[in-house]
Amino acid sequence: MNYFRVKSLDDILASAERKPLKRQLNAFHLIMLGIGAVIGTGIFVLTAVAANKAGPGMLISFVISGFVCMLTALIYAEIAAMVPVSGSAYTYSYAVLGEVVAWTVGWALILEYAIAAGAVSVGWAGYMNGLLHSNGWGLPLALTAGPADTITLPDGTIAHGGFNLLAFLVALFVTWLLVIGTSRSAKFTGVLVIVKIIALTVFIILAMPAVQGINFEPMLPNGWGTPLSGVGVLGAAASIFFAYVGFDAVSTAAEETKNPQRNIPIGLIGSLIICTIFYLLVAYAAIGAMGAQPGGELSHSKEPLAFILRQLGYPFIGNAVALSAILALPSVVLMMIYGQTRVLFNMSRDGLLPEVLSKVHTKFHTPHVVTMITGSAVAVFAAIFPVDVLADISNSGTLFAFLVVAIGVMVLRKTQPQRERHFRTPFLWVVGPLAVAGCLLLFVSLGAYTIKLFFGWAIVGLVVYFSYGRRRSHQGKL
Ligand code: ALA
Repeated sequence: MNYFRVKSLDDILASAERKPLKRQLNAFHLIMLGIGAVIGTGIFVLTAVAANKAGPGMLISFVISGFVCMLTALIYAEIAAMVPVSGSAYTYSYAVLGEVVAWTVGWALILEYAIAAGAVSVGWAGYMNGLLHSNGWGLPLALTAGPADTITLPDGTIAHGGFNLLAFLVALFVTWLLVIGTSRSAKFTGVLVIVKIIALTVFIILAMPAVQGINFEPMLPNGWGTPLSGVGVLGAAASIFFAYVGFDAVSTAAEETKNPQRNIPIGLIGSLIICTIFYLLVAYAAIGAMGAQPGGELSHSKEPLAFILRQLGYPFIGNAVALSAILALPSVVLMMIYGQTRVLFNMSRDGLLPEVLSKVHTKFHTPHVVTMITGSAVAVFAAIFPVDVLADISNSGTLFAFLVVAIGVMVLRKTQPQRERHFRTPFLWVVGPLAVAGCLLLFVSLGAYTIKLFFGWAIVGLVVYFSYGRRRSHQGKL
């Protein structure tokens, strides 16, 4: 049996050519799309989680995970410009490393996208609950967090939540939008990106003057962290990695892009550079203005940026920033569920998953079955789990996919050196191994619980593959 059968790059390109999508996106649209998918729960919510893990040292965590993402973006740019099709890491691995690896990557991308959508929904609910509460309309506390999450009761004691109602509802709402065909409208994304950028800029402008050196002391209360511990600077870097995820969404728009060979690299790298600059400024201002010691006030907040502004004496602007997060985060949920459906759709079209998943609605022309299944699962996860657990699980899948793509691009340089490359990753033999090492470092810095879950999920995936996909694969029937 050939476990490494590939779907050749020429076949992939030819099948995309047969059903070409309209090429209408330019470099600017792609940068907006990238920022639209990237800025979300990570910076708006997980800043508090990172503070709890690393203290002020989370600033270094932001730098580390941003650096790993930058290396990966340089690598994605080469393969995405070369294979401008929509299946992202799954499709690239199918072409280069063979079916079983592609399956594993596709299976890991379920963690990346669907679980990330759950995490962003929970992050959104944190801001919405905070805003409702500060205006006297708060839901009963038990409905503000899932049973695996905690709530602080009025007397200060900590208890388990019941059902995160708003996170559940926002995931279902976005699913409905996707089923009826609302997709990544470039104009709409553009408006929301501007809302997010204004909110972060206002935060930076107001918090920066309040920065005090003393708030950075002690800088590393939990040290650098050890593998599997999930704390310290590296533990926080592994979690805050979530904030950068989404730039790869740019590559899924390749088939709709004008001159993709030039514009995809600009979109991938440009959006990531802009987000990284904002993140470092926000993190610096947040730590310096408020202090970020583990267990401190900031580390408990479910809406840290709004909380800081309120503490600094800007309650109205704090609410406005919360409102921006509330307006903009559903579009991140939408991108994530959209990405998920496209990967599952591709896997189903290749015969690795049941055909019903690639069914298209007669009226709305959307893959409604896979969207509804994905959306319902996302809603249930969001109703049960806390944001940090979901973000870490999502990161495990993303790190695995990034790692495989980095290996794939290096393999392809060796196996097909003659193939035309419109963008070449500079210094690939330095950048590639560094990206692999960086992804591995962040992966082992996730907590032991997350890593166990990842491997459990991978084993389930392989069982599904060998009992189903392996025999039904269209590639296997050629
Ligand atoms: N990077 C995205 C976020 O932080 C997934 O919400």
